[in-house]
Amino acid sequence: MTPPADSAPAQRHERILILDFGSQVTQLIARRLRETGVYCEIWPFNAAPEARIRAFAPKGIILSGGPASVTEGESPRAPEYVFASGLPVLGICYGQQTLAHQLGGTVEGGHAREFGRAFIDVTGDCAITQGVWAKGAREQVWMSHGDRITQLPPGFRVVASSEGAPFALIADDARHYYGTMFHPEVVHTPHGAQLLKNFTHLVCGCTGDWTMGAFRAEMVQKIRAQVGGGRVVCGLSGGVDSSVAAVLIHEAIGDQLTCIYVDHGLMRSGESEQVVATFRDRFNIRLIHRDASDLFLGQLSGVTDPEQKRKIIGRLFIEVFEEEQNKLGGADFLAQGTLYPDVIESVSATGGPSVTIKSHHNVGGLPEGMRMTLVEPLRELFKDEVRALGRELAIPEAIVGRHPFPGPGLAIRIPGEVTRDTADLLRRVDSIYLEEIRTAGLYDAIWQAFAVLLPVRTVGVMGDGRTYDQACALRAVTSTDGMTADVYPFSMEFLSRVANRIVNEVRGINRVTYDITSKPPGTIEWE
Ligand code: XMP
Repeated sequence: MTPPADSAPAQRHERILILDFGSQVTQLIARRLRETGVYCEIWPFNAAPEARIRAFAPKGIILSGGPASVTEGESPRAPEYVFASGLPVLGICYGQQTLAHQLGGTVEGGHAREFGRAFIDVTGDCAITQGVWAKGAREQVWMSHGDRITQLPPGFRVVASSEGAPFALIADDARHYYGTMFHPEVVHTPHGAQLLKNFTHLVCGCTGDWTMGAFRAEMVQKIRAQVGGGRVVCGLSGGVDSSVAAVLIHEAIGDQLTCIYVDHGLMRSGESEQVVATFRDRFNIRLIHRDASDLFLGQLSGVTDPEQKRKIIGRLFIEVFEEEQNKLGGADFLAQGTLYPDVIESVSATGGPSVTIKSHHNVGGLPEGMRMTLVEPLRELFKDEVRALGRELAIPEAIVGRHPFPGPGLAIRIPGEVTRDTADLLRRVDSIYLEEIRTAGLYDAIWQAFAVLLPVRTVGVMGDGRTYDQACALRAVTSTDGMTADVYPFSMEFLSRVANRIVNEVRGINRVTYDITSKPPGTIEWE
């Protein structure tokens, strides 16, 4: 796998470089910057030689937080060129400590560790606080640190402090160097985004020229240049990423693109029809809709182990995709909706280099033997940017704003054996649940909501009769990336209404439960 391209479409935009020291929240720095129209990239601190930085030509550099301690001999340092370049630098948490240490200050360990919400007193002003924090104010921030600076490097002064963090915000306006002991990138620092914007806009001189309209136009040119007269196939899943990738590529190369939609029979209610209606009928994209539900459901017959189910679905998906692609007479390029979080090179917890790049666990991943060049027009975008691009491309909100849906589909929401009947039953439950969520105006406040069909039968009473039917579970979580999740706190009234409708309208279901497990320790999906 090649490292993220330093080259282009962003080449003409103003750029900020973020050097990662391994913090859990480094990605949030990039997100905050991009929200204000500033293109930025995250590189491991130890993969930033002078030549690479010069070629990238950033207008400023941000040093992220990280788990190491500068008081330890082997701990990571910013490359010397960062300070030799004359560029503005903002150090956050560990980044502040290494900045102070490398510029001649003193950092000591052994102080009380401070985590979470804290209040600091603003005792001065600087470009970072301009128009955001007034001198004399007391402001909320989010801290996460063990070490602290005990002596400032020459040229610096304190702008904000607290008892636990005497150097909470430090500044050297003359050299455009700043450091925060707190994390401005997290939402628990309420004005953090504005502080970061002051760094990029006021200090570094960015104007916020990273817009989806500009990205779209540049990417269309880039796709044309890459593909030339070649043919591209794209596995469409109905999800946001592949949909946006397909429409963008289609805009660039028209009928040189063919999309293949492998319908495994495990989609939600009405979804396959919607994919065809949207992409073939509305966007005029060449689309092969292969109904392979008999094949998938046949091979899943009798299978109850979750991993087995995933393996079977993954294997069949590739087989069917290849079959359809061969019928087309082959293609030169394979389009994928890979996103930036999948390609950011990660820094390991020890601060050492790491070559691990998160792998896609998507059905429809690149088949091993396929000799095609990848077209990945979304490689530089975060999920929210992909949604913004989708809106820019006029893709219907129902697709652009859709909750994530796993590649193996409903199969991993039906513990036990999956059959056409159980999938149909679950589809009916799920669509009532989602309809009620939409009607209540809650859809966009939830990361993912879905129903699970339980492999148990329970006794109930309806009218004068006894029932002995299946139970289902409802799940709804909030999350920012699917890595951790909280249960969505529906009102009892809402849950009762949904339960009532399901039991009354779906024959075969007589009991509804609500899953109140967060992640961790649970996972979002049940299998
Ligand atoms: P878990 O269940 O691991 O899910 O907490 C985290 C997120 O990943 C989605 N998910 C998948 N997505 N293929 C996918 O494309 C898969 O095999 C898969 N398994 C889980 C899940 O829906 C949630 O958003």
